[in-house]
Amino acid sequence: MRISVIGAGYVGLTTAACFAQIGHDVFCSDSDLDKLHKLQNGVMPIFEPHLENIVAHVRESGRLAFGSTEQTIDCGEVIFICVGTPPLGNGDADLSAMEGVARTIAKRADGYRLIVEKSTVPVHTGAQLKRHLAVHATRKLNFDVASNPEFLKEGTSVEDFLHPHRIVVGVDSSRAANLLQKIYQPIIDQTFACPIHSGCPRRQQARFLVTDTNSAEIIKHASNSFLAMKISYINMVADLCEATGADVGKVAEGIGLDPRIGPDFLRPGIGFGGFCFPKDLQAFVRIAEKFGCDFALLEEVGRINQKRVSSFVEKIRKELWVLREKRICVWGLAFKPDTDDIRFSPALAIIRQLLAEGASVRAYDPQAMEKSRQELPELVCCSDVYEAAQGADAIVLLTEWEEFRNVDWKRVSGLVERALMIDGRNALSREDVVEHGFQYVGIGGVSGAPEATGSLASV
Ligand code: UGA
Repeated sequence: MRISVIGAGYVGLTTAACFAQIGHDVFCSDSDLDKLHKLQNGVMPIFEPHLENIVAHVRESGRLAFGSTEQTIDCGEVIFICVGTPPLGNGDADLSAMEGVARTIAKRADGYRLIVEKSTVPVHTGAQLKRHLAVHATRKLNFDVASNPEFLKEGTSVEDFLHPHRIVVGVDSSRAANLLQKIYQPIIDQTFACPIHSGCPRRQQARFLVTDTNSAEIIKHASNSFLAMKISYINMVADLCEATGADVGKVAEGIGLDPRIGPDFLRPGIGFGGFCFPKDLQAFVRIAEKFGCDFALLEEVGRINQKRVSSFVEKIRKELWVLREKRICVWGLAFKPDTDDIRFSPALAIIRQLLAEGASVRAYDPQAMEKSRQELPELVCCSDVYEAAQGADAIVLLTEWEEFRNVDWKRVSGLVERALMIDGRNALSREDVVEHGFQYVGIGGVSGAPEATGSLASV
């Protein structure tokens, strides 16, 4: 099928590339001309595992092209809108990009079009889109509007797109439902040639769930808010473990074994970040408020998350006593591993506080240094974990990149001023670190001193 994708961010680009990969003809646009030129010249504007190879392959085979919004609208019977919906000052989602695209579609398109909102939007946006398209349509446009929320995680977005647990479509006509099912059929049946796995371990049939538009829109916000709630919950449990001498790793394992709870998203740490959870949580609370529902539960989830940053800085202070003029080595800047995304990264919030208190910070991240440097010019960025550790009073791990689990501890211990490892993600093996003469301070009672190897008393 011929598909248009408007917006080439994480969601749009993954959507466009993966639809082309499963056999559709896709045209994709972005209003950021610099990004568009990069894509037209084969340069990736973002780091996302597997995406570069897939984009190169489908461009070469002629199934994916990039161009202007107008060209894109002309191309497909089905138009996926994947533009940004950033937060406004009051927590509402800013729908101006969505509105602008809808107006251009209304003025430009004719015949039948299925217009699909893939961006995360508040409930009733589909209905609003429908009204707006009808008001502004200047040609003979016959259209349906559908909601098709995405459940892609940055860092695994290609895998999540190609091997999803569910595909949710919110529609109000069977024509729209049939078109979307036809587009997704190779993914529902898992019949496409997988570009990332040879044995393809994730080939389970995907559930295709058809709902009304309002329900699909709520499914997206409710899913992200639930996951954020799980993280804040385990973070509070971590604090309690730390205060009582329990081990949050064991506690999370114990509660996660209940299939009604499940083991995922129970990793405690410095809190959730990224461009989705913080803004979606806020937006969902605002939506509830507008419709007269008091979702104070989610407001608390946000408050707990915000406090993670200052309480982690306190943890560092507790070990170093005074932060002024201390040299702190930071491993990890991205809001999570396998991405270069630093938006709402708790790592950067922590670094800002450390710098404000007069500490110097030497950081290393495998992908996110360029973006971090632009945001925090005073940050010293190093070429690897070892350069960052040089002369450090403490090493602080803020993003759990796999690379940090495989460092040469002997080498690191020879570089630092003080052998202190503060692990904000409980990502390292406490035993490994302690064995190399480090004091290990983790989250939720997971700590240990070198002399305590064996008993691993909590600090
Ligand atoms: C999230 C959702 O997981 C996706 O399903 C959704 O499609 C996406 O938002 C979106 O709305 O576009 P993402 O923001 O890429 O995906 O990242 P996650 O892997 O969900 O992590 C979010 C944050 O939570 C990260 O800062 C991560 O470090 C933190 N986290 C995650 C924890 O602190 N503990 C956990 O156990 C899990």
